Amino acid sequence: MQANSYLAGRKPQHKQVNYAFFHPPKKNETRMSQREILVTSALPYANGDIHLGHLLEYLQTDMWVRFQNARGNMCTYVCADDTHGTAITLRAEKEGITPEQLIDRVHGEHYQDFQDFLIKFDNYYSTHSDENRELAELIYKRCKEGGFIATRDVKQAYDPEKGMFLADRYVKGTCPECGAEDQYGDNCEVCSATYAPLDLKDAYSVVSGAKPVEKSSEHFFFKLPEFQGMLKEWTRSGTLQPEVANKLAEWLDGELLEWDISRDAPYFGFEIPDAPGKYFYVWLDAPIGYMSSFKNLCERRADLDFDHYWKKGSTTELYHFIGKDIVNFHALFWPAMLDAADFRKPNAVNVHGYVTINGEKMSKSRGTFITARTYLDHLDPEYLRYYYAAKLNDKVDDMDLNFDDFVQRVNTDVVNKLVNIASRCQGFIGKFNDGKLAAELPEPQMYADFVAKSEEIAERFEARQFSAGVREVMALADRANEYIQAQAPWKLAKEEGKGDEVVAVCSQGINLFRVLLTWLTPVLPNMAAKAQSFLNVADLNWGSIEQPLLDHQLGKFEPLMQRVDGKAVAKMLEANKPAEAEKPADKPKKKAKKEKQAPETPDVIDFNDFVKVDLRVAKVVKCDHVEGADKLLSVTLDVGELGERHVFSGIKACYQPEDLLGKNVVLVANLAPRKMKFGMSEGMILASGDDKNISVVMPPEGAKPGDRIS
Ligand code: 2FM
Ligand code: ZN
Repeated sequence: MQANSYLAGRKPQHKQVNYAFFHPPKKNETRMSQREILVTSALPYANGDIHLGHLLEYLQTDMWVRFQNARGNMCTYVCADDTHGTAITLRAEKEGITPEQLIDRVHGEHYQDFQDFLIKFDNYYSTHSDENRELAELIYKRCKEGGFIATRDVKQAYDPEKGMFLADRYVKGTCPECGAEDQYGDNCEVCSATYAPLDLKDAYSVVSGAKPVEKSSEHFFFKLPEFQGMLKEWTRSGTLQPEVANKLAEWLDGELLEWDISRDAPYFGFEIPDAPGKYFYVWLDAPIGYMSSFKNLCERRADLDFDHYWKKGSTTELYHFIGKDIVNFHALFWPAMLDAADFRKPNAVNVHGYVTINGEKMSKSRGTFITARTYLDHLDPEYLRYYYAAKLNDKVDDMDLNFDDFVQRVNTDVVNKLVNIASRCQGFIGKFNDGKLAAELPEPQMYADFVAKSEEIAERFEARQFSAGVREVMALADRANEYIQAQAPWKLAKEEGKGDEVVAVCSQGINLFRVLLTWLTPVLPNMAAKAQSFLNVADLNWGSIEQPLLDHQLGKFEPLMQRVDGKAVAKMLEANKPAEAEKPADKPKKKAKKEKQAPETPDVIDFNDFVKVDLRVAKVVKCDHVEGADKLLSVTLDVGELGERHVFSGIKACYQPEDLLGKNVVLVANLAPRKMKFGMSEGMILASGDDKNISVVMPPEGAKPGDRIS
């Protein structure tokens, strides 16, 4: 692959200006003028590959942007690589190259992945750019002039060998509460205790293996609390999904803290003006990357003006699409910073959940951490575009990519229903009318009924309820197929003198196909381009379907999509499994003498180890809060023949004692008892999730305390 310079972003990447497709508003249409919309997806870090989890966001955004443009709006989509921070420096060091070389190469790889998934950015830039430095400095300067920057000393873990401060995730050691080894510097994954990195016993730097020391340095803070009132209002003004706004209210109803926006040298980023050795924290300049990518685009697009889009009070619309893990940055810090610096705020931040694969978190060892490139080596990008569209809604729920369902859904909907309409009809029109459609439709009302659904489908897409929109399109595809099936042109074709009838039926079919594919163009742009050439039309836009194609010469037909081959899916999963030698690759390299002190945790356990886990049904007979513990519940369990057990369980974020009392749960019954800060814990209640979303595993109905679960 050719390594692109990130400066390649300066060259026009997508010449097509979609507003050329603007169609005049129809009578009674509420949308009276062309909207000017700027859209972004989160900027991917420049130290890793794009994977199927990322793609949920980029595909969702791309489909929404394409939809807006197909509706005649002027919608611009910008993104960039997020290039700063310690992780980039460490990755470059590991590869033996400079950070600049790394971000340059990764930019080329990311850009190619996105292009091959048909993601059509107007600009794909880099946060390591002149525009971004200038805008970061400007925003900081305005914040400072407004009195929104504070400075004070902060004590932090410091790696004396590397000469650098260590963020919590770069310190590991033994949990001071429960004694679990190899825990990160902020909280224990075993007992959920939270602590400072230097509270860890045997703390070591993940970067060098050295023992960290405490060191103080001056930090710069953004005075977020000054924006509490504005944020309370802004987060409740239709800018966020209700579940996101509710979550943020937990912070906004309490006391906000000032946000630490500086990091000490050595740091790959922008040095803070008049503060030698102090750098902007990567999360300060990352969202500014949205602005700078747009600014860079404005330099070569006469129809776009930076100030028109970003000045306070702008009438243009601004939307950010992001994942649920970075809500705080986009819905608290970012709008506050924009406000402080006298720029406009986003109209909405659209949040999505994570992708699970076959019901589980993506995992390198299971081979389900699938990169964009591995997918592309085996499968057509439009399969995934369709599958995601068919499942996407406007909620924050996670989405499961189940590969059996994937094969079946794409084949059933796209190949059997949609493509089938065109492929069944086109041959007869070629044979009986030299590829020319009939002068009249045999069922004009049916055609009108289809077209009449346009606004309803548009509303679904506008609201990001893609699955509902796609469902409506597919219901109409069923109707089109039923019509063709009932008319059976293949039978008529065998009867003498029925040629005109065959052409009429098939012309109806082709026209219905055109309507269906017009609606799905944002989802299946490649197929739409092929169909456009076969239909021999200048475009597939929502305005032009009001008139059917009559007495119209078709172009050459080429197959629109191959069926998904289950074997190709299996090959992809196989290819994605890491080679044995690669498995522990992401672990930090420690010096041999430290190895014993903090051994590597293998990702993979043997099956024989796995079956040793004794899972038992257990009934909650007592459940209480634990004084002084934010995350723990104290639970007493009846485990049948094993008697009573007492455990501390870190599930308080999602469960109250009354939710569990009297319920059956699953207990890891043969876990060695552990002494925790609040007492002994004799086992573990099975649950899954992260800090905020936790689901306790429920045993099958009818199971009794003490029953084994396999
Ligand atoms: O979480 C991430 O992957 C970040 N790189 C997203 C940055 S989005 C924006 F703020 F730049
Ligand atoms: Zn612990």
